[in-house]
Amino acid sequence: MKIAVIGCGYVGLVSGTCLAALGHHVVAVDVMEERVKQLRQGIVPIYEPGLSELIRNEVAVGRLSFDIDTAKATQSAETIFLAVGTPPAKEGGYDFSYLFSAAEIVAKAANGPKTLVVKSTVSPGTGSKIAQMVAKLSPHKIEVVNNPEFLREGTAIQDFMQPDRIVFGASSPAGIATLREIYQPLIDKGYEIFSMSRESAELTKFAANAMLATRISFINEVSQLAQAIGADIESVRMGIGTDKRIGPAFLKAGIGYGGSCFPKDVQALVHQMKTLGLNPLLLSGIEAANTRQKQIFAKRILDVINDKKDAVVAVWGLAFKADTDDVRESPAFDVIETLLKAGVTVKAYDPQAAETARKVLGDKITYCKTLAECTWGADVVALVTNWNEFITQNWEMIAKLMRGKHILDGRNCLASGRVTAAGLHYHAVGRPELKPGEGKMGSMGVVSAG
Ligand code: NAD
Ligand code: UGA
Repeated sequence: MKIAVIGCGYVGLVSGTCLAALGHHVVAVDVMEERVKQLRQGIVPIYEPGLSELIRNEVAVGRLSFDIDTAKATQSAETIFLAVGTPPAKEGGYDFSYLFSAAEIVAKAANGPKTLVVKSTVSPGTGSKIAQMVAKLSPHKIEVVNNPEFLREGTAIQDFMQPDRIVFGASSPAGIATLREIYQPLIDKGYEIFSMSRESAELTKFAANAMLATRISFINEVSQLAQAIGADIESVRMGIGTDKRIGPAFLKAGIGYGGSCFPKDVQALVHQMKTLGLNPLLLSGIEAANTRQKQIFAKRILDVINDKKDAVVAVWGLAFKADTDDVRESPAFDVIETLLKAGVTVKAYDPQAAETARKVLGDKITYCKTLAECTWGADVVALVTNWNEFITQNWEMIAKLMRGKHILDGRNCLASGRVTAAGLHYHAVGRPELKPGEGKMGSMGVVSAG
């Protein structure tokens, strides 16, 4: 099928490239001329493992191309995916200006019947509004369907190509039939499809993110009790996660969740319920608990510093999670801002996200090119992103580079026994503090998640 994907960000680039890899002819469009120019030169503007290679292959076989002209791409395609951003609006909910403006261009340019697939995350009911709008703007039948995306940054290609499920939302059998045709290669491999109304598909996406965020805020809250009574949240996590009714995923306590989706989607869900006169008791608490979790970690760093003059903190990681350069709503920023307000000098290192972070933080902190440079002279190391490079460190070397002796593990991802064997203090989230020499060699924050 001939497909146009509007928006070349984390979702548009990945889904467009994967749709090409499924055998479709895809033109991916973005309004940012520089972005399209780079993509045409083979430069991928975001860091996502495996994406550059897949783009190169699909461009080489002629199934994937890039353009800045949405109208032209619409006319050459049977199906148009909208994958533009839906950032938070100042007054609450989403800012749908990118989405509606892209839909308008598609409707005005349509030169025949089209299927318009909303891939961006939207509040339930948005598809109907788009359907009404395009029906007014185009003499042609434009079928508006919803196909929410569940990929995670860092594992996006695998999530798209080996999905837990694929959700189709449409108000007619024709819309479902088009989506089935697009995803037929994955259906043939046995991946599960759920067809439902457009509103149900929109709410499924909302509810999935809210459920995952709830689990994280839940375990983070329990981790506070663990910390207070000397229990170990990692043991508790295994103790509950092995119950088949609960399951182990998204129960990793830490510094709080970040990213471009959980914070905005939970807020938008709360906003929509309030707008409808409903009372989102549980959901309102999830975001509040997350904000508090980030503050608790920052305060623990300050407690360890204990008003030391000229304190230096080495922040390991700036991205909101490992394996991405995305810093949107990164918990690192909350921690750094608190440290800066307290007069602490902050040095930071991230394997991929220094440049994206610099756009937010400017010159407030020192960006280091290596982990060793970042760690040198630090009183405290604060690990905020669970990059593998941090987990596999040589702790004897880290101890020699530091001025102080305290490691704060905001992701419970380090082997605590290895840290303390190097003469360092180990502080984690919801785990007992360990002094130098305490703990077992190889004792880990168990498997990393997220
Ligand atoms: P993004 O900000 O990375 O990318 C959006 C892209 O759309 C940008 O490159 C922007 O220039 C482009 N754009 C904006 N208006 C345009 C227009 N009129 N025409 C063409 N291009 C236009 O956003 P993202 O992270 O890819 O998210 C996109 C949507 O997918 C959001 O609704 C998000 O909630 C949802 N989502 C994101 C993820 C994720 O992991 N990032 C996962 C699932 C769903
Ligand atoms: C999340 C969802 O997992 C995707 O299914 C969804 O498509 C996407 O949002 C979206 O709608 O944008 P993503 O934000 O890329 O994906 O990353 P996650 O792996 O979900 O992590 C989100 C945040 O939660 C990160 O800050 C991560 O470190 C944190 N997290 C995750 C935890 O603190 N604990 C966990 O156990 C898991």
